[in-house]
Amino acid sequence: MAVRNTEKGLKVKESILKETPDAKVDVMELDLSSMASVRDFAAKYRSSGLPLNILINNAGVLSPHFKLSKENIELHFVTNHLGHFLLTNLLLETMKTTSYEQNTEGRIINVSSEGHRLSYSGTFSDYINNESSYNSVYAYGLSKLANILHANQLARLLKEEGVNITANSLHPGFIDTELFRGHSIFSVICNRILSYVIKDVSQGASTTCYLALHPKVKAVTGEFFSNSNLAQPSSRAKDEELAKELWEFSLGLTS
Ligand SMILES: NC(=O)c1ccc[n+]([C@@H]2O[C@H](COP(=O)([O-])OP(=O)(O)OC[C@H]3O[C@@H](n4cnc5c(N)ncnc54)[C@H](OP(=O)(O)O)[C@@H]3O)[C@@H](O)[C@H]2O)c1
Repeated sequence: MAVRNTEKGLKVKESILKETPDAKVDVMELDLSSMASVRDFAAKYRSSGLPLNILINNAGVLSPHFKLSKENIELHFVTNHLGHFLLTNLLLETMKTTSYEQNTEGRIINVSSEGHRLSYSGTFSDYINNESSYNSVYAYGLSKLANILHANQLARLLKEEGVNITANSLHPGFIDTELFRGHSIFSVICNRILSYVIKDVSQGASTTCYLALHPKVKAVTGEFFSNSNLAQPSSRAKDEELAKELWEFSLGLTS
């Protein structure tokens, strides 16, 4: 478990071990909004010699206010996309080695959202650090659009390279989590209006677990899922040119 708050992570580890005493769980510190922290985490992971079969890029924020990270990048973009982008790139060799040595399929899963449909219409570089045009729903949407484009571009590159690793993205459903903390309008909508369709945390984790573990999705790559089924993302999310542009832009910001 890669977490920014290790105290919280250790509590989760304890609860997992209570239910499954022989589970092997490591808790390591990772702040996805800091490229320095991502590099530090990846270096520690690589030097641990641990294999890596499945990488779930799940962390996310939804902030009502415009905020910049320590390295001066807008908080949604850096936490929800860029941190995962760099992490995935830095762990890819470990995944390839694991897949080759164990003769297993590696899987990369980006947790996106139906919210990707509500996003700015211009290019990524136009918006990410532009405070004057900031809108929290659109900023979140742009980062969730990036999750899908990232998985799709990764899927194409891995296919071209001929490695046994898939990359997919998903909408987990509307879930009763801490995502909406600090966002009073969303909290009200979720608590009252959406209370009949909202998922609990285990229901909300099911599509992620399906993509991570189910034999039915063997070799399926570059797809978007919802309710453990193939789903159609927006046309922008399927735009190959936009995916390439995002890839180059993200490389520029992380190199
Ligand atoms: N809830 C929904 O209805 C919904 C709908 C569609 C998509 N999603 C997506 O589902 C994913 C999980 O969100 P959630 O609903 O479970 O929200 P959540 O309860 O707020 O969980 C988000 C997790 O991300 C972690 N996180 C935030 N910033 C981080 C950082 N800088 N570095 C490392 N970890 C960080 C949080 O850590 P802390 O515990 O330390 O805060 C928390 O564990 C997100 O990608 C979200 O966009 C959620």
